[in-house]
Amino acid sequence: MSGPLVQLSGTGARNPTANPARIEGGSMSNAPMQDGFGRTVEYLRISVTDKCNLRCVYCMPEEGLPWLKRAQLLSYEEIAAVVRVMAGMGLRKLRITGGEPLVRRDLPALIRQLRAIPGITDIALSTNAVLLADQVEELRDAGVNRVNVSLDSLRPERVDAISRRAGSAEAIFRGLAAAEAAGLAPIKINCVVMRGRNDDEVADFARITRERPWHVRFIEVMPTGDNLGVSAGEYVSADEILQNIEISGDLVPVAGPAGNGPAVYYAFPDAPGTLGVITPMSHTYCGSCNRMRLTADGQLRPCLFGHVQTDLRTPLRQGSPLEPLIRETLRIKPERHWLEQGSSTGSGGLRALSQVGG
Ligand code: GTP
Ligand code: 5AD
Ligand code: SF4
Repeated sequence: MSGPLVQLSGTGARNPTANPARIEGGSMSNAPMQDGFGRTVEYLRISVTDKCNLRCVYCMPEEGLPWLKRAQLLSYEEIAAVVRVMAGMGLRKLRITGGEPLVRRDLPALIRQLRAIPGITDIALSTNAVLLADQVEELRDAGVNRVNVSLDSLRPERVDAISRRAGSAEAIFRGLAAAEAAGLAPIKINCVVMRGRNDDEVADFARITRERPWHVRFIEVMPTGDNLGVSAGEYVSADEILQNIEISGDLVPVAGPAGNGPAVYYAFPDAPGTLGVITPMSHTYCGSCNRMRLTADGQLRPCLFGHVQTDLRTPLRQGSPLEPLIRETLRIKPERHWLEQGSSTGSGGLRALSQVGG
């Protein structure tokens, strides 16, 4: 990440021998975590790695993005220690993201630790599903409630091209089948719509929701430092996407599957699945924002975009209290993002969403 950051850090006494897992137990206060605009935050998106096994054209550059070093990453014990403190402050829901979370070793071990934290009621995973088939049962048994899977095309050759990795389609379809077989539900599909690459498949994705219990969400691409060609040149708005689908049937607005995110859902009568749109650009949903993010290197980010983040790793490793830092980060949570089409400025120095987990 580059550019100036509003950076808070711990001020407490140094205690290098402290065991982070035992620093603070969490007080289970009943006061909700409210930000300066009265929004209640009870949802944390936890990035466990910035690495990914794909290179999707709207997300990461093909090469040249520097990875975090091992020592910079929070250990699973450290992540659990942060969650324990926040659960005591009102946190209830977690989503594990990356990069690609399944490239980090033994993710079920983290899930088991998080599942044991009092107050946590929902643990979900956002994944590209390439490595899902082999791990899905262990993840479910560890406590993952549901998965959201990135799938930008139903045509294998296009999946391979958009992800810049030959053979990824086959692995992803196996991962999806394994998630269904393991009984993980609801299964949500994330499809970033791009003009000229996959926008002609919107009706095909819609048709699939009549056949399978899949919840397909069409996402407007967001600009970051390294994707300006795609985000500015291939952007398709949700209004245009929905117009395309309406030609093929009588969609009605529905509540949609359980979730904590900003998707707005529609369905065909009697269909087992639904369609959703996620509209960060055309109809921003920041007014009802309910989340913060923890990056793989222990930065607490109150907004996906912008310059504000708080280093929790240093105080965690020093044995200093986290709660005051978390409260202050919440207090200064930005009102909204300031993304602008064709510009990287609003993303706050972020080159790729993979750096903070999308
Ligand atoms: P559920 O509704 O709980 O299933 O999760 P979700 O849809 O929020 O999570 P997912 O990781 O599947 O994200 C779907 C899309 O929404 C991705 O493109 C994310 O980058 C985007 N998104 C998620 N949270 C935010 C956010 O806080 N701000 C913005 N602008 N986009 C977000
Ligand atoms: N704009 C919109 N969505 C994106 N994702 C990654 N980068 C972008 C972007 N620039 C999506 C991925 C994944 C989710 C977590 O974020 O497709 O499904
Ligand atoms: Fe919340 Fe920031 Fe996402 Fe808006 S862009 S919904 S304020 S995290």
